[in-house]
Amino acid sequence: MQAIRSLLSKSLTIAGSGPCRSRPLSTTSVLNMPIQVGNPIPSVDLFEGDPGSKVNTGELFAKGKSVIFAVPGAFTPTCSKDHLPGYLENFEKFKSKGVDRVVCISVNDPFVMAAWGKNLNADGKIRMLADTCGDFSKKVDLTVDLAAVLGSVRSKRYAMVVTDGKVTALQVEPDGTGLSCSAAKDILSVI
Ligand code: BEZ
Repeated sequence: MQAIRSLLSKSLTIAGSGPCRSRPLSTTSVLNMPIQVGNPIPSVDLFEGDPGSKVNTGELFAKGKSVIFAVPGAFTPTCSKDHLPGYLENFEKFKSKGVDRVVCISVNDPFVMAAWGKNLNADGKIRMLADTCGDFSKKVDLTVDLAAVLGSVRSKRYAMVVTDGKVTALQVEPDGTGLSCSAAKDILSVI
């Protein structure tokens, strides 16, 4: 399967122009297969704070234990009232379980992600990474079409543990946007 993914990522490209075009097609989407426990985390550039500050997921998650929680949108009600605050409240528990970093990913621009983090006092605890064009969400094949409510394709809500570059736990919300299995307490119970 890795060989097929590798071949597809080399051979398929979306034509077009601009920062959100001309990129390899998501191989997981082509194969219609969301990332699974045991898979390597894909290498994609995300953005932290501003569009000039790239954070490569392959590099960030290569070593140690990382907890990622992905949300459909910054400043949306469930994400702001429940999902992110739960990770903040449990931050010390993650640390005591050997988690090196807690990362929030959303298909939003980096300024919005930074403002959302500041607004909820996440600075210094949760890394707020913008999947500006949705490339990471497409690579892991965990997207949901929220064009009707949020204007575009977004990330499904999920929680993931990445250990030394490989997915070691993954809990994806069955309906994409609800909060039933990807809260901080849910992922803490499997670390
Ligand atoms: C939320 O409340 O988190 C939400 C609202 C609309 C669409 C997706 C998520």
